[in-house]
Amino acid sequence: MPIEAASRDYSLVGENAALAVQHGLAEATWYASPVPKDTMRDLLERRDGPALRDTFLWFALLVGSGVGAYGLWRVGSWWAAIPFMIYGVIYASTSDSRWHEAGHGTAFKTDWMNNALYEVASFMVMRESVPWRWSHTRHHSDTIIIGRDPEIVAPRPPDIRGLVLGFFNIKTIPAYFRHLWLHAMGRMTPEERTYIPDSEFEKVFFRARIYLLIYSAVLGLAIYNRTMLPLMFVGLPALYGAWLMPIYGYTQHAGLAENVLDHRLNCRTVYMNRINRFLYWNMNYHVEHHMFPLVPYHNLPRLHEAVKADMPRPYPSLFAAWRELVPAVLRQVKDPAYYVERNLPARSPHAEASSGSRIFAGKAGTGDGWVEVCPSECLGNEGVIRLDYGQSTYAIYRGPEGRVYATDGFCTHGRAHLAEGFVKGNLIECPKHNGRFDFTDGTARRKPACVALRTFQTREENGKIFLRPAP
Ligand code: FES
Repeated sequence: MPIEAASRDYSLVGENAALAVQHGLAEATWYASPVPKDTMRDLLERRDGPALRDTFLWFALLVGSGVGAYGLWRVGSWWAAIPFMIYGVIYASTSDSRWHEAGHGTAFKTDWMNNALYEVASFMVMRESVPWRWSHTRHHSDTIIIGRDPEIVAPRPPDIRGLVLGFFNIKTIPAYFRHLWLHAMGRMTPEERTYIPDSEFEKVFFRARIYLLIYSAVLGLAIYNRTMLPLMFVGLPALYGAWLMPIYGYTQHAGLAENVLDHRLNCRTVYMNRINRFLYWNMNYHVEHHMFPLVPYHNLPRLHEAVKADMPRPYPSLFAAWRELVPAVLRQVKDPAYYVERNLPARSPHAEASSGSRIFAGKAGTGDGWVEVCPSECLGNEGVIRLDYGQSTYAIYRGPEGRVYATDGFCTHGRAHLAEGFVKGNLIECPKHNGRFDFTDGTARRKPACVALRTFQTREENGKIFLRPAP
């Protein structure tokens, strides 16, 4: 059952922000469907191939439609409207899912590719790359928690006019430029300060200035040549090409429960055809994505197959999702307490047995300070296990070369169990927001993780793994 908020104050600095913390809704532990460890390991495997292919095709569509539109515009043909419609949708709508996947760092195996696509797509979708990276991190921690989530699209009672204007970004664009200006002037809003660390502010200011420079150059070019043409390629697509983004995006959460700790109750999974799934990069598997954000977009259909017995019934089509969403949102205008209740399947009695994480308790040694963790065979190369010993939780890893390491069990960014994360080489990736650490020395290697983990001594002898815990 959702926890009722004190009021419908969605601000991140209002009364519900404090109440969410008091009610245990902030940085909470969310329900996760059981997935066998081997299956999950397979699903987590990163590859460059699928995203390279999809990104190449995406850019080809963008460039091809752009060249066609340019040629037809120059000869004064109204047929230019057709390639511009394609260009606008690719530029302003489908950049949303590229922004999203590259921001999670899962689209490509190679990090610089994720970062490059993220910066390009952020500019295209009119989202400042640094603030939105942090707001999305919060959205994943506290999905649709009132007073915590900065990305609630349809707060209740819903602003129907605002939602309709969202198809053309009418309300978003002025707010975007207001924030750009504010950031270019070296200022942050009080709300942004609740989820963006001070150490990131300079990056925010720098990028805002670059964005404004680009827009100024495009505007200058248009004025100098007395033509709207440059603006049709940069800037105006947000007006004429953004309509597809809410068609997909509103289905994610609108009309569903707030203040719950189960993504099956506040996200929708919607079956879509291959074209929509290419344009949307499989974000239609939204429950699965929120539950397991480490899984790359190209593996979401397989993840869906692995967990669907534990999910509410997926929506058979976009149309079916909208047929539920529209009346629900309209009803919430008069009755803000209303929400669509999803029916959850009964939990399988075998669910725990097939679940991925095994927790070791450890055995105290002979007074020399060492704790016996487990037999060596329980931890394979590039594997991680969890040890709960005394009042502490540890993550024990085996690197690719076979050596054993140990760190704190909880991520320093939130309270996620690192043993449920993904080991690649000497890095552990946090299951919650994809922060990364080098487990050989604890250093934080990818944001939002910024603070290093403590490391602990380990040894392996006589077929057993030992740890020397914190004193
Ligand atoms: Fe946020 Fe780990 S909890 S990166």
